[in-house]
Amino acid sequence: MINWTFSRFPESPPLRTTQLLERFFSIAEIEENQKYKIPKRQSEWLASRLLAKRLVQKIIASDSPLPLKSITIQKESSGVPFVVVEGMGRVGWLSISHTRGGVLAAFSQINSIRFGVDIEFIDPRPLEIFADYFTVAEIAWLSTLDEQEKDVCSNLVWSAKEAFLKAIEKGLQMDTRKINIHPPDVCSQSKGWNAIDFSVEGNRLLDWQLLFSLNHDYMMTICLPAVQKSQLIELELTSAFD
Ligand SMILES: CC(C)(COP(=O)(O)OP(=O)(O)OC[C@H]1O[C@@H](n2cnc3c(N)ncnc32)[C@H](O)[C@@H]1OP(=O)(O)O)[C@@H](O)C(=O)NCCC(=O)NCCS
Repeated sequence: MINWTFSRFPESPPLRTTQLLERFFSIAEIEENQKYKIPKRQSEWLASRLLAKRLVQKIIASDSPLPLKSITIQKESSGVPFVVVEGMGRVGWLSISHTRGGVLAAFSQINSIRFGVDIEFIDPRPLEIFADYFTVAEIAWLSTLDEQEKDVCSNLVWSAKEAFLKAIEKGLQMDTRKINIHPPDVCSQSKGWNAIDFSVEGNRLLDWQLLFSLNHDYMMTICLPAVQKSQLIELELTSAFD
């Protein structure tokens, strides 16, 4: 089972940041936080870590809720996040994404599972800025869409690529043009998660699936093992800084 959650957060860190850090974060996490000097980045870091800790706290079974301070979010040198719980060591698999006041986090307690999430704020962006990242086929079908569909679909393409790259733990070390996103039927999408047709280096992958969901002004995507869709569960948590 994969649990996911979405939350909004203000673009500046809250006035009580010091108290939140002292109450809920380890010394190593506080040191990581202090590396960030830009308020927007500090806010993203704080919101994503608090949300991820709350998600893990909800999922890990214990007699009483684990203190948030005992759950730490750490990072591989590649940037891949992972969860360490005091007394349990490294647990499960975590994926995080944050953008423009929105954060998406997903966690599974199963150690062997891999997945990646991404969230994009649906901004109008000219297709030219994607020329180095999208395939010729993607640019071609996006160019046929009206302005509103183009904004939704270009964010979907970018987000889906990032979710896939996070699931395979590569991040932007891999050329995003190796992944080709096929035109989705955004108009007939249902509420919740919808499938995205895609191929990697010309092959349709049997092991992975990509899904998208439109959440107000945000495009959310997840790349997960092909067999997992029915076990994708939303958890509603308090907003990040509450
Ligand atoms: C992974 C990547 C696609 C992230 O996309 P983004 O749109 O910039 O940012 P998102 O908010 O969607 O995701 C960021 C989160 O992805 C996760 N992440 C970073 N690298 C990752 C990877 N290789 N695989 C999976 N997840 C990764 C982290 O949790 C990160 O959150 P944090 O920056 O607060 O720690 C891309 O920016 C990248 O490759 N980053 C790696 C940079 C890095 O850390 N390099 C370190 C070695 S040089």
